[in-house]
Formats: sequence, C-alpha cells, structure tokens
Amino acid sequence: MCGIVCYIGNKPAKQILLEGLKRLEYRGYDSAGLAVQDGKKISWQRAVGKIAELERRVNGMDMKGTSGIAHTRWATHGEPTEENAHPQVDPEQNVFVIHNGIIENYHTLKRKLEKKGVEFRSETDTEVLAHLIAMNFEGDLSQAVRNTMLQVEGTFGIGVMHRQTPGELVVARRGSPLIIGVSDVGHFVASDVAAMVRYTDQVVHLQENELARVTADGFTISTVQAKFVERTTETVEWQAEDAELNGFPHFMLKEIYEQTMTIKNALRGRLEPGEGVPKLGGIIPVWERLMACRHMVIVACGTSYFAGCVGRYIFEKLTEIDVEVELASEFRYRKLNFPPNTFIIAISQSGETADTLAAIREAKRKGASLLGIVNVVGSSISRETDAGIYNHAGPEIGVASTKNFTSQLVILVLLALLLGRHQKLSLTEGVEVIRELESLPVKLSKVLAQANHIEAIAQKYHKCNNWLFLGRKYNYPIAMEGALKLKEISYIHAEGYAAGEMKHGPIALINPQMPTVAIIPEDEMYEKMISNIHEIKSRKGPVIAIAVEGDQKLKGLADEVIEVPRVIDILNPILAVVACQLLAYYCAKFLHRDIDKPRNLAKSVTVE
Ligand code: AGP
Repeated sequence: MCGIVCYIGNKPAKQILLEGLKRLEYRGYDSAGLAVQDGKKISWQRAVGKIAELERRVNGMDMKGTSGIAHTRWATHGEPTEENAHPQVDPEQNVFVIHNGIIENYHTLKRKLEKKGVEFRSETDTEVLAHLIAMNFEGDLSQAVRNTMLQVEGTFGIGVMHRQTPGELVVARRGSPLIIGVSDVGHFVASDVAAMVRYTDQVVHLQENELARVTADGFTISTVQAKFVERTTETVEWQAEDAELNGFPHFMLKEIYEQTMTIKNALRGRLEPGEGVPKLGGIIPVWERLMACRHMVIVACGTSYFAGCVGRYIFEKLTEIDVEVELASEFRYRKLNFPPNTFIIAISQSGETADTLAAIREAKRKGASLLGIVNVVGSSISRETDAGIYNHAGPEIGVASTKNFTSQLVILVLLALLLGRHQKLSLTEGVEVIRELESLPVKLSKVLAQANHIEAIAQKYHKCNNWLFLGRKYNYPIAMEGALKLKEISYIHAEGYAAGEMKHGPIALINPQMPTVAIIPEDEMYEKMISNIHEIKSRKGPVIAIAVEGDQKLKGLADEVIEVPRVIDILNPILAVVACQLLAYYCAKFLHRDIDKPRNLAKSVTVE
C-alpha cells in the first residue's frame, strides 16, 4: 500500500527521490521519509503527513549524495508517527530500510531480538528487518538481505542501504511489486513506474523471492538461494504526462474526462465489425479451454468487484456460461469445488490486490484456469494468470477508481461477445454490439458535457449526510459503485441497493434530507423503477434520476434528472456510472475534501 522509490546514479538523489515520492503519494500518505548516502555518510529525515511536509524539512538540510531510498507510508503496524515512518534503522545507524508489505512473524522475531538485548524504537514490523540485516551483515549486503529473507514470513518489497557499502542499493521482493528502471542518469527502483516515467520507459520487473544489487552503472538479479538470473528490459507504455494534472484540479476529474479516450484504448485493434466478433490476442493461450468452459467465477475487490457484478449480467445476456461473482476476500476462504473447465476471472486495476492474488492462487491449486483483466502491465496478477486482457487505461492516480471501471466493463463486454458469438449470438447481434461499443466515446462525451448541471445538483445536496443509490439488473452494481464513489471521496454515508430491495428495509430511512440517486434507463425494469420513485416521493425523499435523454415521464416525477444517451442495455452502466462519478466528485469538492487522497485509503491494497 505504501510507495517505494530508490535511486542511484549521477544526479543529486534528494530532488529525484522527492519528485518520485510525490508521484507515488497516491499509494499512501500518512507519513514519509528518505535517506541519501554520500560515501559513508547517510543523511535522513522522516515526517508525519504529506510529502510536502517532508520536503519542507529536507529543503534546509545538507543532503549530498547520488544514491538514496525514500518511502511514503500507509500505516499498518503502529500509528503514523515520525518514529514509525520509514526508513527504519538499526541502533548503529548502519542499515536503512524502507518496506512495503507486512512481516507476519514479526512478533516472534521481535521477542527473540529483545531477548538478545535489542531495543526497539518504533512499533513497526519493518524495524525487525533493519535489526536482522544489521546482524546478518558480514561485508556483503546482498547476502545479509538474503539471510534475512529466509528468516521472515509475510510480504515485502524492500529497499536497503548500508553505511559500509556506499555505491550500492539492495532491493528485494516477496509479494509486493518492485520495478527496476534503467535510465541515462542511473538506476531507479520503485513500487510503481509512476515514480520513474519522467526518466525512463525501460524497466525490469523483479519477481517473487528475488533480490537485486543495484549500482549507478548496472544491476544484478539473484534469487534468495543466490542463483543469478538474466533478465532483459521491457518498455512501459506510460508517458510522463500521464502522471501530470495537465490543468485539471484533481487526478480524479482528469481521469473521469479521460474515459472517452480510455474506452477507445480498450477497443483499439480488438473489433472486427464485419464479423461481429472481437479479437482478443491475450486469450489465445487458453482458447481451447475457454471454448469448453461453461462455468466462470469472477473474483475482485471494491470497484473491480462491481465491474464483475455487471459482468455477470452481461455474460448471462450474451453467452451460455454460468457466471458467479465473489469478493476475493471471501472467495479465498471458501471451500472451493469447481466443475470441470471452470475459469476464474480476476479483475484488478493494479494487479497487486492481496486478496485477489490470494484468491487466484487458491483457485489454481484447486485446478481452475485463470484469466486476468488488469491495467498494470507486468503486475503480479497479470503474471500469475494463464492469460489475460489488459485495460490499456494508463496510470490511474486518483485513489477512487474511475476510468478503469469503465474499461473493465468494455473488456467484459468484448469477452462475453467473443464467447457468445461461438455459442448463441447471431452475426446481426454481434454486429449490433460492436456498433454500439464504437458509439460509446461520443455518447460518453455527452454525459461529460453535463458536468455543470451535475455540479449544480451536488451544490444543492452535498450537505445531506445520507444517500441511497438504487438500480436494477445491469445498474444494480452501478448503484453500489455510485455509493462507493460518494463514500470514498466525500465521506458521506451512502448505500447502494437493488431497487427491489428498497421495501425490505432501506425505505425506513427515506425523508426529505435523504436523496436517492435512481438509475433508470428505458429497459425492461423501467416501470418497476418508476414505482420505486413514486414510493420515495410519497415519503418526501428527493430523487436524482439518471435517465435516458428525452425521458418526459421522469421530468415531472424526479427532483433532478441527469440525462444519458440511449444505448443498448448492456452498455448503459458505462454511461450511468460517469454521472455517478461526477456527482461524487462535485459533492467532495463542495465539502473541501482531499479528493485524490481521501483519508484512510490507499490506491493499491497489497495487504489483507
Ligand atoms: C476504488 O475506488 C477503490 N479505491 C477500491 O475499491 C479498489 O477498486 C479496490 O481496492 C480494488 O483494487 P484493484 O482493482 O487494484 O484490485
């Protein structure tokens, strides 16, 4: 959940590390720290709060040196205090460690170390790493890190510097991503390419239980058993400006607007309009198995889970495959028993979500085939699945996921259409879906064009403390996603419900201070949704309807109407959710929230 950036090269490290931290701040932002090495001198600083506070502190400091490590934290063990921030050090201040992940046997290790007289200065699990590496050090830092890796259980991505070994950094991973960047100003190691895209697009992904010794001129990768590994660089497709605001006040708003483009990217090169069949190169390795598949389970967390919930309805409509959707955090503990030819589809923007990773590992053990729908190229889920489809949405910096949700939905439609065309769908039906997919970017820009109208609605209702979101069928998950977006960034309490469930409980809450956002396209559920709206209005609840353009009936019934263009049923959620995203964004703006870095949240949840 935290962010790591390390640099060793020919430029002053302080500025490069601070810049990298700012680009990683979305991964965790309760405290931060950095250490810079100049020969046998290591200068370091830590601070509670945002990177700006750390920057303020180090600005006055004399921090010479062209190598260093830096960290932005999302607290797991111990409160966000200066003592608990990283780097963590040993008592002699020889070893400096930054760490993402959780050391699960840290209590046992800590007790053993305390018996040996070691005094702990922080409440973190990371501090045991600093002590162990210091104890294991006999002149070779890589070997000291290896020996430590054999002693610890849990997950980690670590960056280590030792006062006695200037000119090298050692990094290691188990469960938390680390990427080495090769540039003409030296080498980077980071938990996320965003920290280095300004300097390089050439990267190497460190793999499980590997460590790397990195110098200004090169790097060597070896396993924990000291077996050396050759690996060539890959080119990342992200550009430096992808991680810039480009005139937008927040990344979230920028990413909402990018959706016209990210939907095109998700479709690019994947459509064969004449045949009514999409092309998905990433699934070729499992094509035979997919053709035999009649049972799928989609596993994911948060927003990606809601994409999966829409996916279930889409698969039901387009294919003959039975689809279940499970929260990865629950699925991993279920008693799994799959029918033959079961596919697990893992949906994850980051490709690093701990619960989703654990779920696919468990499913693999039980014999299921694995498919990933992932945005981050080279991420753990993309590597551990048998095949997959990338979102190509570019970096998503806002903690609240927006553009990835819509590209996940597009990919689910493509996958279902491809399989459906080999099952029950006619050429005409296939061609229609493709034509409608192609129309999405223009239709989505019509939703974006209503930003001012949505902002005015937010201005009117943002002080209401409780909201209800209702939808049916394809839009039931959109109600849940709309409520999640509002909760995450505005801290307003919101519930997303299947509209049919309203009478079974939530109706008790309806009053003039509780707005209901009702997603009501002109589909087979339309009349039932209208009845729900009447029920709310009879109890004086304000209704904000997300309806199809030109819907006259709703204009007289709902208090506010946000219009979305007409599109086939399975694609309506892609337009409706953008209205929900904007509504959440503007409510948070009126409430002066920290929209891109909402409290307590982190972009990538790499611990359970
Ligand atoms: C979305 O707004 C959230 N921040 C969160 O629910 C997120 O979708 C979830 O943690 C899953 O992340 P992933 O897609 O990277 O696996």
